[in-house]
Amino acid sequence: MRFHIMTLFPEIFNSYFGESIMKRAIEKGIIEVFVYNIRDFSTNKHKKVDDYPFGGGAGMLMTPQPIYDTYKHIVDTHNIENPRVIYLTPKGKTLKQGIVKGFSKEEDIILLCGHYEGIDQRIIDLIVTDEISIGDYVLTGGELPALILVDAIARLIPGVLNQNESFEDESFENDLLEYPHYTRPREFMGLSVPDVLLSGNHQKIEAWRKEQSIEITKKRRKDLYKKYCKK
Ligand code: ADE
Repeated sequence: MRFHIMTLFPEIFNSYFGESIMKRAIEKGIIEVFVYNIRDFSTNKHKKVDDYPFGGGAGMLMTPQPIYDTYKHIVDTHNIENPRVIYLTPKGKTLKQGIVKGFSKEEDIILLCGHYEGIDQRIIDLIVTDEISIGDYVLTGGELPALILVDAIARLIPGVLNQNESFEDESFENDLLEYPHYTRPREFMGLSVPDVLLSGNHQKIEAWRKEQSIEITKKRRKDLYKKYCKK
């Protein structure tokens, strides 16, 4: 799967994709990440990428030309048909695991990171297929949301996670939050690992984990709990 990230701050992405699971997935060739500096595509002689909003108001907007030309370059050089272009914005649809699963089926994903007060609406009208928010709070730009989205999608692609990093039991699968985990030592600061986990009885362990998942979901996320009960 190929991720194409359009940004004014390409360096932000270097360290993240150079470490750990993402690095391994790139080395294995399971994912490819291309980062494009929108400023490189500005036809302005000073490489300007922002301007004042028509009608007045605070702040600057990203102008359409450099974004559109970056997009054209990506689509043309990688022969992408029906490109999926995701704009990260607090105005977008709130990201959920189900949306992430949908994106993970694509061959190419193009991500557009906004800055300043936003981007010219015509870019959204012309090229954006999905507007996504990572939550009800406002960040200074779309780079962190783009990283979050790429990470969430990439780990669903077969081969990115090892078998022992698998996601079958984790939160949001079955609409339940994950059960608590324990590792060595058996006792830490006076707190013991629950006996059942040391019992070696896998049926009992499974039942305990399910019960814990249901309990924690009921307590923390009434919305998910209701969904789970309806199944
Ligand atoms: N850009 C700024 N805040 C954002 C958010 N919450 N989600 C996605 N993109 C953003």
